[in-house]
Order: sequence, then structure tokens, then C-alpha cells
Amino acid sequence: MLKRIHHVGVVVASLESGLRFWRDTLGLHFTKSATIEEQGVRAALLKVGDSEIELLEPLNPENGVGRFLARRGGGLHHLCFETDDVARELDGARSKGIQLLDQKPRHGLAGMICFLHPKATRGVLVEYAQPLEE
Ligand code: CO
Repeated sequence: MLKRIHHVGVVVASLESGLRFWRDTLGLHFTKSATIEEQGVRAALLKVGDSEIELLEPLNPENGVGRFLARRGGGLHHLCFETDDVARELDGARSKGIQLLDQKPRHGLAGMICFLHPKATRGVLVEYAQPLEE
């Protein structure tokens, strides 16, 4: 079951400049950051109420986030729904014929995650995330 909007993904040219605005100017609470090699990004999470903003800085210009930055100069990138069972959510999407970017869940900053294909979601890149216990 999809429970809430977990985070909104925002692409930035650099995490430092992103944090200067979202954390230092807007005052959102910085939660954590990490380099996620397999996604080719450095990412940071900032808490706002029950949801978060996820900043994404591409590690190279060739991956999806890098191309997004080059094409659009950064900005709104994806919407992430929290679920209590990301594998079941992914199977459910597959059985409905929704085109997928990930065939199975993988590790992301928000826990175990997967992405649906934006062609199947009316142009919005949708992520599902099952937060891991910390
Ligand atoms: Co995300």
C-alpha cells in the first residue's frame, strides 16, 4: 500500500549549492547524505514535516540525472511514495502493465527503492521506497 509522499527529488548542480538554499536559506532540517555509486549520484535528504526533499547531484554527465541537469539545468526530478513492501508494489505495478525502470528493488538513500518508467506515469518519474530500519 502506498502510504504517503516520502520525498520529492530535486536535481542540483552541486550538493553544496543545493544545501545552501534548501538547508541554510529555507531552513529545512538536514537528515543525511551519501554517495550512491550504482545510481551515479551524491544525494542528501532534508526533512520537512513528515516528508523530505532529496537533493541529487550527478557524479557524471552521462547518467540519467546528469542528462537531466544538462537538459533542464536542474529542478524537480521525481516523486517518491513510501510503501511497506516495495517488492510487492513493484509486482503490482508490473501486473498492471506499468512500464518499469527497475525490474527489482535496489538500495537507495531512502531505503529499498524502485522506479517506474515516466512514459507509463504521464511524464512524472515515480519512485517507490520502503525505508529500512535504522
Ligand atoms: Co528519490
